[in-house]
Amino acid sequence: MKFTLLTILSCCFVFACAKQQAKKFVYAKKFDGLPKVSDFQLEEETLPELKDGDVLAEALFLSVDPYMRSFGEFLPAGMGITMPGGQVAKIIESKNADYPKDAIIYGSLGWRTHTVFNRNVTQDPYSIPTYILPSFADLPRSLGLGTLGMPGNTAQFGLLEIIQPKAGEVLVVSGAAGAVGNLVGQIAKAKGCKVIGITGSDEKCKWLTNDLGFDHAINYKNESVNDVLKKYAPQGVDCYFDNVGGEISSTVINQMRDFGRIAVCGSISSYNLPFGQWPQATIIQPTVVFKQLKMEGFLVQRYWSKWFDGIAQSKRWIDEGRLKYHETITEGFENMPQAFIDMLQGKNFGKAVVKV
Ligand SMILES: NC(=O)c1ccc[n+]([C@@H]2O[C@H](COP(=O)([O-])OP(=O)(O)OC[C@H]3O[C@@H](n4cnc5c(N)ncnc54)[C@H](OP(=O)(O)O)[C@@H]3O)[C@@H](O)[C@H]2O)c1
Repeated sequence: MKFTLLTILSCCFVFACAKQQAKKFVYAKKFDGLPKVSDFQLEEETLPELKDGDVLAEALFLSVDPYMRSFGEFLPAGMGITMPGGQVAKIIESKNADYPKDAIIYGSLGWRTHTVFNRNVTQDPYSIPTYILPSFADLPRSLGLGTLGMPGNTAQFGLLEIIQPKAGEVLVVSGAAGAVGNLVGQIAKAKGCKVIGITGSDEKCKWLTNDLGFDHAINYKNESVNDVLKKYAPQGVDCYFDNVGGEISSTVINQMRDFGRIAVCGSISSYNLPFGQWPQATIIQPTVVFKQLKMEGFLVQRYWSKWFDGIAQSKRWIDEGRLKYHETITEGFENMPQAFIDMLQGKNFGKAVVKV
């Protein structure tokens, strides 16, 4: 009996002193075209004990996003560096009064299950700063990576601040069934636009028109965007939210009307190719000049001062039934690379998220 009690007590002591183990995915092999599962390596590490100001966060949901493909191209990266990315996490230990235990945060903490961080450490200029999630009431916390987070704000600010659509105008969005694109189309519909989405499958086209209220959708993989767009927008296009770049975008831009506006959000059609080997596309400058178009690129970080207003607005729209959210959830941290590759190949409807 004495022995058993001692054993239990010593086990508890060892457990209490055990340092937190973390799993992380590192960038192990330079991407060549579409990333492969073997380009990533799963590693374990022992986390340090917390110092004053530190917190220990446990990932609940992690995001896979197109910009991660730029790792090693635009974003500086050496082999062995932890993959970057955002996560919704729970604070499980804290020595920082601003981040109490059990708080749920958004953090640009990378592809890691557990992280010790200090909020005073400066993040790289491209990261979204860490913050405690505002209340989502009974909505899923994973939306902090999608509709109620970075992609939601990208859709909202890119559309409303840059394009400024007006009722009755024709708006085209590419990457229309993805995290950003599906929201752009829904918000533009709520603003009274005629909305045309461009995406990569018939199933996605049906989802956009039947479930999300888009007026039309074009499958760029088996339809001529040029011909079908002329049919759906015979008077031309007023607004273009560009998620993909390349020939699809040249085609849309060359069908725009006088004083059209274009928000350049991303160019995923080039992401799997190295700098300098990007696809060539039809010239747009004659149309830009003669139709007097306005074209502006943006990074959502520009709107940081309005970040929480953006989230609150999206939540209001959800609560009022004017905005639908959709996530494609992959289970298991070990499946991060596959979820990332699937998203780049268009297997996601709405936001691609990994649940730990
Ligand atoms: N500027 C910013 O601050 C900012 C912030 C967030 C995102 N972005 C950009 O916004 C775009 C959308 O991001 P997201 O997070 O919403 O991703 P997403 O649309 O949820 O996922 C990417 C989608 O891209 C499509 N795609 C893949 N290869 C393509 C190709 N060659 N041509 C056309 N479409 C292709 C796929 O859908 P299909 O089935 O339709 O092919 C895939 O589902 C990306 O370009 C991203 O870099 C920019």
